[in-house]
Amino acid sequence: AKPEPLKIMISGAPASGKGTQCELITKKYGLVHVAAGDLLRAEIASGSENGKRAKEYMEKGQLVPNEIVVMMVKERLLQPDAQENGWLLDGYPRSLSQATALMEFDFWPDLFILLEVPEELLVERVVGRRLDPVTGKIYHLKYSPPESEEIAARLTQRFDDTEEKVKLRLHTHHQNVEAVLSLYKDVILKVDGSVSKEDVFAQIHRALTKLLEDKKATSGSL
Ligand code: AP5
Repeated sequence: AKPEPLKIMISGAPASGKGTQCELITKKYGLVHVAAGDLLRAEIASGSENGKRAKEYMEKGQLVPNEIVVMMVKERLLQPDAQENGWLLDGYPRSLSQATALMEFDFWPDLFILLEVPEELLVERVVGRRLDPVTGKIYHLKYSPPESEEIAARLTQRFDDTEEKVKLRLHTHHQNVEAVLSLYKDVILKVDGSVSKEDVFAQIHRALTKLLEDKKATSGSL
């Protein structure tokens, strides 16, 4: 039988490198990347009422209310591409109630990746982050500079990427993280996120390779 596709969650403080690792993981493993923050930013860009409300909370670095976030994430995970290829859930769940809402639909991860980065690095990562609106790629002025002048000229910055706002986002993260971690403690992989992005990915790649081998062995397809 074909092994079940991978189901992965990735978590960590603001700017710990979740989006960057998701780019590398999806490229290698073909999982569908579902990022709560990206779904919310798309909702803001659409000009909807939910988008307007979400932005008020994001501006303050607070969690957007569940009635906006939960359905958005659930619906995306239920799409056929995520069901067939497996999913990589980024920035969700951020509270116990968000986790419970997923469990009601039988969404449980094979692995919960936690990126650990010392706080003094996070602020530097946030203020130096830039995004390419054309490709969606994440850059950093110092650590991952753009490849050409043309790309450099079109880079944008997120509205919540200031030193002041990242401190609010960090505060919210600290308030909620323990409750979520305790729920997934049996499937947690703690990763040192302070090293280069390639070295962070090497740690994740090792774990995912092992997980896939185990899945193949249990499904009898090895
Ligand atoms: P969200 O968009 O999820 O933001 P976040 O959690 O604050 O995380 P970031 O996207 O800022 O960082 P990242 O970890 O992806 O880092 P990145 O790879 O870009 O959420 C935004 C807001 O939406 C929240 O504040 C909240 O209001 C709302 N929201 C989201 N989810 C919600 C939910 N479930 N419920 C309610 N509300 C929700 O890296 C950062 C920078 O560092 C980049 O420039 C990158 O190039 C660089 N970098 C990455 N890795 C390395 C490395 N190893 N070495 C050097 N530099 C690196």
